[in-house]
Amino acid sequence: MTRMDHDAPQASQTGATITEVIPGPAGSLTVSDDVTAAPAVAAAPAAPAVQDSAAVPATPAGAMQTVMIGTSVQTGEPVMTEVPAFVHEGTQGEPLLSVRNLQKHFPIKGGFFGRTVGSVKAVDGVNFDLFRGEVVGLVGESGSGKTTVGRTLLRLVEPTGGDVIFKGQDVVKMDKRQLREARRDMQIIFQDPFASLDPRMTVEEIIGEALDIHKLHQGAERKPRIAELLQRVGIRPEQMVRYPHEFSGGQRQRIGIARALAVNPDFIVADEPVSALDVSIQAQVVNLLQDLQQELGLTVLFIAHDLLVVEYICDRIIVMYLGKIMEIAPSHQLNNDPQHPYTEALLSAAPVPDPTIKRQRIILEGDIPSPINPPSGCVFRTRCRYAIPQCAEVVPALREVKPGQFKACIRDDIL
Ligand SMILES: Nc1ncnc2c1ncn2[C@@H]1O[C@H](COP(=O)(O)OP(=O)(O)OP(=O)(O)O)[C@@H](O)[C@H]1O
Ligand code: SF4
Ligand SMILES: [Mg+2]
Repeated sequence: MTRMDHDAPQASQTGATITEVIPGPAGSLTVSDDVTAAPAVAAAPAAPAVQDSAAVPATPAGAMQTVMIGTSVQTGEPVMTEVPAFVHEGTQGEPLLSVRNLQKHFPIKGGFFGRTVGSVKAVDGVNFDLFRGEVVGLVGESGSGKTTVGRTLLRLVEPTGGDVIFKGQDVVKMDKRQLREARRDMQIIFQDPFASLDPRMTVEEIIGEALDIHKLHQGAERKPRIAELLQRVGIRPEQMVRYPHEFSGGQRQRIGIARALAVNPDFIVADEPVSALDVSIQAQVVNLLQDLQQELGLTVLFIAHDLLVVEYICDRIIVMYLGKIMEIAPSHQLNNDPQHPYTEALLSAAPVPDPTIKRQRIILEGDIPSPINPPSGCVFRTRCRYAIPQCAEVVPALREVKPGQFKACIRDDIL
């Protein structure tokens, strides 16, 4: 796997005017009238962006910087604090994909006239970047919005708001023709390989259809291309005449992978690609995906529940909870030094491969709240063991707290 541990996306540096004082959780929240004067001030929405290291002056030891830790629930104004400054490292160039303030609110219809009576905030202001050739994990409990993010990136689900900039173009604003072209470069592998393959079509037709939509490898080239793809994913080419039900779950997922690769994409969303499979064959499919990613230089958003699998194959990990990002960090950093209480709790529940390492088990009390009416301020506060009254007052911004590591939590005196 191409390790890219020097990624140092940084919160955007824009000025903002503060009008409100909220006492800090650690007595540390301060207010500035003119934060444009402060270095490295992040403005909402905190948007991980690329940092050119050459442009960053070295930060003297002990220096402090003023950062925005969130927005006030009452006024919507930024809330600032002072934190130790750090030097940003490295650069990764332009992102392949930039997600900005992505939202998907599913309307709830009700009443006699079927009017909209509310909405499910499945994705609620999500920001992240994906760089060429990296594998990024997207984790979080069931219902946190992972699938909705993945599908919204390809506009299989229409976003309610926000931007998805892919290779410099906003997918959200594309017309049908532009979208069809973009989808040649963006593909998805679904969780359930049975449901995602049409049972009435042979494997040849399934993969051939993907080629036909984009007018690739037509005529005499078509069959050899399908054979080549099947061989690459470990299916015998002569089996292309068969139907999906004639294959095992693992084989069906291999066919789903071949279909995604048929059009030579740059970017793949893999939505829990192995969780519906037998444990005994999960590793084989994960290894296949990993080989293909390296061989083809793919950029992958790997959605999963299993933090162990994600740590194994991903360069970076995004942690979601109730439609929002809680933390983004390089995989090893997230596992060894989580900065967000939710990540800490998730990790405490995950099995540790090294039996000599003991983790304190943190029980997350209660269920994930309803995304119809999420808690005010920090959406994790109803289950957070570090919650304080201010957590209900401030919507935490996703801000960089260590090089390449972002968290959405107002407290810096924990973890
Ligand atoms: N079409 C829809 N209409 C209404 N609500 C939806 C729809 N699709 C998803 N949701 C809701 O949006 C929220 C996020 O769902 P999503 O499937 O994205 O979560 P997830 O993190 O992928 O969960 P899982 O781990 O179970 O796959 C959930 O509360 C879900 O019920
Ligand atoms: S994660 Fe916990 S401590 Fe941090 S803002 Fe949310 S509720 Fe507060
Ligand atoms: Mg899902």
